[in-house]
Amino acid sequence: MSFPKPDFRPVSYSRVTLTELMIPAYANFGGKIHGGILLSLMDKVAYAAASKHAGTYCVTVSVDGVNFLQPVEVGELVSLLASVNYVGKTSLLVGIKVIAEDVRSGTVKHTNTSYFTMVAKDDLGQPTLVPGLTLETHEDTRRFLESIKRREFRERSRAEFDNALSGLAVQQELHLLHQERCQIAY
Ligand SMILES: CC(C)(COP(=O)(O)OP(=O)(O)OC[C@H]1O[C@@H](n2cnc3c(N)ncnc32)[C@H](O)[C@@H]1OP(=O)(O)O)[C@@H](O)C(=O)NCCC(=O)NCCS
Repeated sequence: MSFPKPDFRPVSYSRVTLTELMIPAYANFGGKIHGGILLSLMDKVAYAAASKHAGTYCVTVSVDGVNFLQPVEVGELVSLLASVNYVGKTSLLVGIKVIAEDVRSGTVKHTNTSYFTMVAKDDLGQPTLVPGLTLETHEDTRRFLESIKRREFRERSRAEFDNALSGLAVQQELHLLHQERCQIAY
């Protein structure tokens, strides 16, 4: 039995934490956890938060701010804390904080915070309207406002970047290679 979707849902309704033990099968040749394993967990938790808020199937559209600042070790307990920070019409921005805990020492490190843009889809695979977000705390409001700024900044820098690339004249820019570790072999 399905219920009509509400006009608004509180941030707390879709907040999710995913915790997973880092097993040896997740490690790279250096003994640290593969970045791709963490990305996959981030995608999973983003999906969980977005689809819970939307009440529909969601897809990942873009990912911002993935910087692995510290390595994650085998044996650590990784927790991904996700919440919907912002909603547009059909899109949702999910903020994900990743922490890794050494269970023996109890030390907790913050490995990264990233932002996943998800879009809600209806049964026909078309983008569909999501409920608005009820901001329950000052922190929710700060994150919502920060998301607006983040989106503005991203759109501005994407436009500037596209502009810079479309006008790229290779012959005129070759001087940039003098300081780089490359050689032209043609
Ligand atoms: C993302 C997708 C739904 C956009 O479809 P579209 O027909 O262009 O739809 P719209 O232009 O109406 O965009 C829908 C929403 O996505 C947002 N969006 C589209 N491209 C975006 C991008 N590159 N970055 C952030 N948001 C984006 C739009 O701003 C819009 O948000 P809003 O409704 O809240 O205003 C479509 O390209 C898609 O399905 N992509 C595949 C996603 C997927 O399968 N991901 C899994 C990885 S394999």
